[in-house]
Parts: sequence; C-alpha cells; structure tokens
Amino acid sequence: MGPALVAAPAPQAAAAPTAEAAAPATQATLRGGREVTSRRGAVACVERRAAEIGAAVLARGGNAIDAAVAVAFALAVTYPEAGNLGGGGFMLVALSDGRTAAIDYRETAPRRVDEALFLDARGAVDQERRAFGHHAVGVPGTVAGLVEAHRRFGTLPFAALVEPAQRLAEEGIVVQPALAAGLAEHARDLARFPASAAQFLHADGTPYEAGERLVQRDLAQSLRAIAEGGAAAFYDGAIATLIAAEMERAGAPLDARDLAAYRPIVRDVLTVRHRGAELLLMPPPSSGGVALAQMVALLAPFDLRREGGFTPRARHLFAEASRRAFADRASWLGDPEASAIPVARLLDESHLAPLRATIDPQRASRSDAFGPPLAEPRGSSTTHFSIVDAAGNAVANTYTLEERFGGKLVAPGTGFLLNNELQDFNPQRGVTTRDGQIGTEPNLARGGRRPLSSMTPCIVRRDGAVVLVTGSPGGRTIISTVTQIVFDVVEFETPLPQAIARPRQHHGWFPDALRHEAALDEATRAALAAYGHVVEPAKQRWQGDAHSIARDPASGVVQAVADDRVEGWAAAPPDEVPPR
Ligand code: DON
Repeated sequence: MGPALVAAPAPQAAAAPTAEAAAPATQATLRGGREVTSRRGAVACVERRAAEIGAAVLARGGNAIDAAVAVAFALAVTYPEAGNLGGGGFMLVALSDGRTAAIDYRETAPRRVDEALFLDARGAVDQERRAFGHHAVGVPGTVAGLVEAHRRFGTLPFAALVEPAQRLAEEGIVVQPALAAGLAEHARDLARFPASAAQFLHADGTPYEAGERLVQRDLAQSLRAIAEGGAAAFYDGAIATLIAAEMERAGAPLDARDLAAYRPIVRDVLTVRHRGAELLLMPPPSSGGVALAQMVALLAPFDLRREGGFTPRARHLFAEASRRAFADRASWLGDPEASAIPVARLLDESHLAPLRATIDPQRASRSDAFGPPLAEPRGSSTTHFSIVDAAGNAVANTYTLEERFGGKLVAPGTGFLLNNELQDFNPQRGVTTRDGQIGTEPNLARGGRRPLSSMTPCIVRRDGAVVLVTGSPGGRTIISTVTQIVFDVVEFETPLPQAIARPRQHHGWFPDALRHEAALDEATRAALAAYGHVVEPAKQRWQGDAHSIARDPASGVVQAVADDRVEGWAAAPPDEVPPR
C-alpha cells in the first residue's frame, strides 16, 4: 500500500447510501471549488456547470459512469470548444469489483477516404482542407461511445443523464470568459459556415460576449432525439440525415452508410506495473498508453525516486525517455484494426533495454539518431474529466473535436460542431520532415481506419483499488503531461495538487527541443541546457489542463483537483444526505 494520498476532509456526518441519497441535489447543496475533498465521490472537469451536473448525478445515487455520461453531454453545451456530440474520444473505466474497460469511440474515416484525402492536384498537402469544414470530418463516435458506456455500466435511466444538457441548451447558458475568448478568437472561421455562425455569432457576425445568454435550440433538439432514441437517433435518424446532406452538398466523402456503420470498440485496458502500482491505460489507436508505459519502463532502472522530485537530472532523463517513446510512436503506432501494431514488443525488455542503453545520464542525445522526423504538437482543443464515485468506481474520459471548435462546421439543423479529426492521419505517404509532418504507413488515411491519437486517459490502482484518475488535452503534449503527473505521484509520491501545479515539459522527439512551461525556473532551464538540450519555452502559455482525482483507498476519501491553468471546477455531492 502506498502512502495516504489524500487528507481526510473535515469531520462530517457519515453519508450512508440511503433512499434519501437518491433525492436530487440542488446546485446550492453541492460542494465545489478548484479543489474538493469528499467521501461521496467527485468530478474534476474543465467547466463548472458540467462538473456540477456530474456531482448531482453522484448525489442522487448514480455511479461514476452515469456521471460521466451526464458530464460528457453537458460539456457539449457548456464547452463547445471541445465538449462534443460531433467528435470522439476514449473512456477508461475501472470498477470497484475489479472489472475494467477501455471504450474506444474514436472517429473513423469514411469508407471512401484514401491517403490522398488532403493532397491537392499537385500532390501538396492542402492545410485548409485539414483544418476546416467537410473533408476532415471523421464519423463521430461520442454518442455511440456514451450509449455503450451506459449500456454496460450505467445504473440510472439514460434519458435522465441527457436531460440536464438538453435543458441547458434550451434555456441557454451564460457565456463565461473562457468561451467568450474562444469565440472571439475563432469568429472569422466560424463565420465561414452559416449554421455555425447562426449558433455562435450574433446576426451582425460578432461573437457572444461574457455574460450574454447563449441559447442552442438545434442542439437541444438533437439532445432530445438522443435522449429518446439513443444511438439510433444519431446514426440512423434525423441527425444522420442532416449530416449526410451537408456532406453531400460539399462533395465530402462521409455519407449515411458511414454513419450507420459506426460502432464503438470496447478494448482490453493496457495495464503495466510501476513501483507496486498498476497503471491502467488506453491501448491503440491511442498512442498515449503505449508511450507512457514505455517512458515509465525506460526510467525505472534510473531509480529517480532518490532524486526526490523533478530535479534537472530527472527532467533530463524524462526528456530522453520521451524522445525515444515518440520515435517509436511515429514508426509503429496506428489503428490496430487496420494493421498489426506490435504493442507487446514495444513494451518488452528485449526492445526497451537496448533503447535504454542509448540514454546518457550526463548528456542529451540527438533525435536524428532515432528514425525519421515527426510533426509538431498543435493547440487546443480536447478536454479531459475525471470522476470517482463513493464506491470507488472510476472514469477517465478524454474526448475531442481535434482543434478548438473542430473544423468550425455545424451541419444545418443539428446544433453541434463536427470534428476535423482526420487531420490526425499522416497527410502524405513517405514525407517526413524535421519540423513538419510525418508519412509513415501505420497512420496513413484509409476508409474505416481510426486516426492515431495522443489522448491518454489514465487510472492508477494499488492493491486493486483506484488511487488516481488523470488525463489532459494538448495534442502530442498530452503524453508528456499525463506521464509527468503519473510519474510525479507514483515515483515521487508527490501530492496531486503539487503534481498538477508543477511546470510541465515536452520533448516530442522532433522538433528536437525540450519545451517547457513559462513557470519553469531559470536555474533548471540553465541546467537542462548544460545537459545539451535545446531548451525552449512552449508556444502556448501552458501545457494541458489535467483535471484529476486522487483517492485514499483506506478511507475512500477523494481529492478532486481542477487544473487552475484554465477555469476548471471540482464538484462533489453534499457531505450530508439532505433531509427529505
Ligand atoms: O487525438 C488527438 O491526439 C488529438 N486530436 C488531440 C488534439 C488536442 O488535444 C488539441 N487540444 N488541446
């Protein structure tokens, strides 16, 4: 058993799961803030209203999966940057009875897609097509994934979990500063598509400002149809018809058959051990699970625990492990349904030991020594939330539209943004550049394939009990962010709030640079440069937002922490069961 990860909350009445617990908790009785400790479970999430909807589900007796379904639908309304119906993601589930599941609801390439998807007549990459509109849309997986999670593990009626989101869409939300800033930044691109403009901009083309009420009627109608009809309403019903019509109008490959054929895939969780803890990870088409597992295994013999934390030496070795894991990622990882992905070999000591032997503890190596170069990370948006319930069931969910507000396209009548996830495919066979793109086979676009993802939801258990739930957005930097937090908590036994606050770094193999958050102190930067790293500030002010939960298995007390790099929120049911 590891150390107590979480301090007990202030004395409180025991909250026995009685019939009263099923009474709906009003928002006023929920507990919350940037951090919250609770004996009755909690939600850590990027947006307050969605976090509270999840906590209210827990308060009325729903389990972590029920809460996850409600949060995911709510974020589609309150956090349209990345919360979605038109995207996809990964949900990792660990139940207190020991069962686990990795629900892959990643978008899938329409069957008419081939590797020339983003090439123009001259064979050059058309960046415009990758970023905006119709051609980059993969068949959305979110609705099917949430329905599947609920079908397998949910306890409350599905419609009741969609209803709070539907109500928010119908009655409107007060636009918060983060959304206002996002809309202002992307107003011009949203204005390219009439239904996107109608939903997110005023009639004169100006974006909604903080404090204004945003009503999303078409979205409310879509949510109502999903509440009543489940996945069929989205993939075979009126919503599918609207999406397919918009795609046909634009000559894009996605059609009704692609939508009808979509299925989420429930995979075996990828499990590795480190320092007596069990790390539960997402297998491919996530690259994050394999990369995290590789990094932790590469670092294990260096016994960084003796460093006591992320010293410059620890950061140097972390960057070296990262460089090698990202090189493998480029060479080997892709959709396991489309080609054989050698996960077991990549995690075997016969592969890792020679790779580890190339790490010089005194000196940075050069990425050129490890295969062909790879593309740079991109900006937002994706979002991650973590949920644990009173019984110790846990959900780590990361889902995405790929870029912030996806490809900026709303199909008329549907009320939700569509993803531009196909941008995650390698755009040009064989073309890999030192600072640009990658062209290896396992992740070329092909009909039916799921693009390789960096999303890395993670659950850590000790002696079979959940102790940590984490994950983050951030494109390729997701892998660095999540690995750093997991390593901090498991290797250094750092309390979760400090692990989340710690300045982050990323070395993605190529560009061959160690990028760090602005908060990394000058002395550490100088020390890393002295190891021979090219040390650069990250392009964005922060790297990821990792809303996470630590849990003390002995008491069942959880500590939910919203990463305060953004306007996140941690919410928990009221400690005491409200009187009837
Ligand atoms: O699946 C992936 O790896 C990317 N589509 C995630 C994009 C992302 O995280 C952007 N957000 N910050």
